Amino acid sequence: MKITAAITGVGAYVPDYVLTNKELVTLVDTTEEWIVSRTGIQERHILKGEGQGTSVMGIKAVEQLLAKTGTRAEDIDLIICATTTPDLVFPATANIISAAVGAKKAFSYDMQAACSGFMFALATGAQFIQTGTYTKVIVVGADKMSSIIDYTDRSTCIIFGDGAGAVLLEPTTDGLGLLDQQLCSDGNGEPFLHQKAGGSRRPPSAETLAGREHFVYQEGATVFKFAVKNMADVAAQVMERNQLTANDVAWLVPHQANKRIIDATAHRMGVGPEKVMLNIHRYGNTTNGTIPLCLADYESQLHKGDNLIIAAFGGGFTWGSLYLKWAYDAKPSQ
Ligand SMILES: CC(C)(COP(=O)(O)OP(=O)(O)OC[C@H]1O[C@@H](n2cnc3c(N)ncnc32)[C@H](O)[C@@H]1OP(=O)(O)O)[C@@H](O)C(=O)NCCC(=O)NCCS
Repeated sequence: MKITAAITGVGAYVPDYVLTNKELVTLVDTTEEWIVSRTGIQERHILKGEGQGTSVMGIKAVEQLLAKTGTRAEDIDLIICATTTPDLVFPATANIISAAVGAKKAFSYDMQAACSGFMFALATGAQFIQTGTYTKVIVVGADKMSSIIDYTDRSTCIIFGDGAGAVLLEPTTDGLGLLDQQLCSDGNGEPFLHQKAGGSRRPPSAETLAGREHFVYQEGATVFKFAVKNMADVAAQVMERNQLTANDVAWLVPHQANKRIIDATAHRMGVGPEKVMLNIHRYGNTTNGTIPLCLADYESQLHKGDNLIIAAFGGGFTWGSLYLKWAYDAKPSQ
C-alpha cells in the first residue's frame, strides 16, 4: 500500500497588535479605499517589542499544534521552517523553534522560497514521510515581514503583515494527504522582487542603511502580472492532470498576496468564491504564514476526503500548486 503524507493537525499564531488601514493613512500618502479596492486588505497584525523575532510566532504556532493533536514534542522527527525573515542569518529559525518546544529528537532546518516557501516546505516534508523515513514532521510557515518593510513606501507597507502557522504531517495508506505537486522557479524574477542588502553580495554597511536597502523592493505591477498568470496556470494544470473538475474541488487554498490575484486564480479554475479560503482582509500578506493561517481559519469547515488545491506565487520567482486530500474532520471545539 502506498504511503502518503497527510496533514493531521494545524496550529496558528498572529501577534496582538493590529495595524489598520486607518493607521497606514497617517504614515504614507494613501487612502483606506485605495488599499481595500486594490488589495482586499483591511488590517494586518504586527509583532512589536525588542528582540522579538519570527521564532516567537513559530513557537506559539507549534505549541498550539502539539496541544491540539495531543503530540509529544519528543516524538517529532523533523521541523522545517519556511521563512524569509529568519531570527538570524544563522542558526536556522527552525532550530530555535525546535529547542523552545522541546523537540529533542528532531533535526530542523529552514527553507527559503519567499511566498512559496511554505508550499515548497510542505512538499519537502512530505517526501520524508512518503519514503517511510519518518512518521512525524512539522512544517512551519512564519514571517515577521514588518522587520523588512519600509513604512515610508506606500506600495509595499500596505500589503505585508506578521504571522505564523504550522502543520503536522503523518503517514497514511488511505489515499489521503499530498497526492500531487507542481513546483516552479525562475531566477529571472529577481529584479522585480528582492531585498537589496543584508546578504553576502551586499553585506550591511552605513551605505546600505542610508540607502534603505534592507527593505522589500517590489515592482508591484510586474509581479502582479506574473503572479496572476503563473498561479492560475499551475493550479489549473494540477487540476487537469488529476482529472479534477471545479465540482470535485472542495477548497482552493491560495497564497494571500492580493485579493485580485486570488480572484483571477479561482476564476481560471472555475471555482466559485464560496470555495476559496480568504483571510487577506485580516492579515495581509504574511508571506510563509498565509497558507497555514488559511488552513487554521477554515479547519472547522474541512472534512475528511475534501480535495484541496493549494497555490502560491512569490519572490524568485517561485510558484506552484499542490493537490491534497484532507485527512480528518475537525473536532467540534475546533
Ligand atoms: C502592489 C500592488 C497592490 C499595487 O497595485 P497596482 O494596482 O498594481 O498599482 P501600481 O503599482 O500599478 O500603481 C498604480 C498607481 O498607484 C499608486 N500607488 C501605489 N501604492 C499606493 C497606495 N498605497 N496608495 C495610493 N496609491 C498607490 C502608484 O504610485 C501608481 O501611481 P502612478 O500611476 O501615479 O505612478 C499590486 O501591484 C500587487 O499586489 N502586486 C503583486 C503583489 C504580490 O503578489 N507580491 C508577491 C509577493 S507574494
